[in-house]
Amino acid sequence: MKGRTPFYQSLMGLVALLCSASAVVAQEYDPVEDGHALVTMYCTDCHATETAGNSPFATAPRFRDLHLRYDVELLSEALVEGIVTAHPEMPQFEFDPLQAAAIVAYLKSLELSSVRFDVESTN
Ligand code: HEC
Repeated sequence: MKGRTPFYQSLMGLVALLCSASAVVAQEYDPVEDGHALVTMYCTDCHATETAGNSPFATAPRFRDLHLRYDVELLSEALVEGIVTAHPEMPQFEFDPLQAAAIVAYLKSLELSSVRFDVESTN
């Protein structure tokens, strides 16, 4: 019976290791980064998706300006239900709720960076 203890301990050690490894993975999920990746994949052809630069498609709003028009939080629902604009140039997208939340998180981060930029540029 004594011989089992080290095995049991190393098993527990392994379990603890696995638990902490999955905790690290969970912590590494960054919605802003995920949203950035999504808009880079699907939206940069037409929209300015970064903190600088203009939209390649002249009539497509720059993402960092969207919050000037409305609360970007409201986009989350549209992204899930299929965002449709008045312009047929923009294809219809449908994202799952996690992706939509990530895109909104990224848009919000742009909002913050444009505020910082505005503050800096008034100096
Ligand atoms: C093929 C070009 C194209 C792509 C790709 C594209 N858009 Fe657009 N988007 C446009 C154009 C053009 C407009 C302007 C439409 C208008 O003013 O009605 C627009 C407008 C918008 C608006 C503003 C809508 C409004 O009513 O004010 C949002 C939000 C938007 N796009 C989000 C996205 C997102 C998110 C993606 C990527 C998932 C994306 N777009 C990809 C062309 C595109």
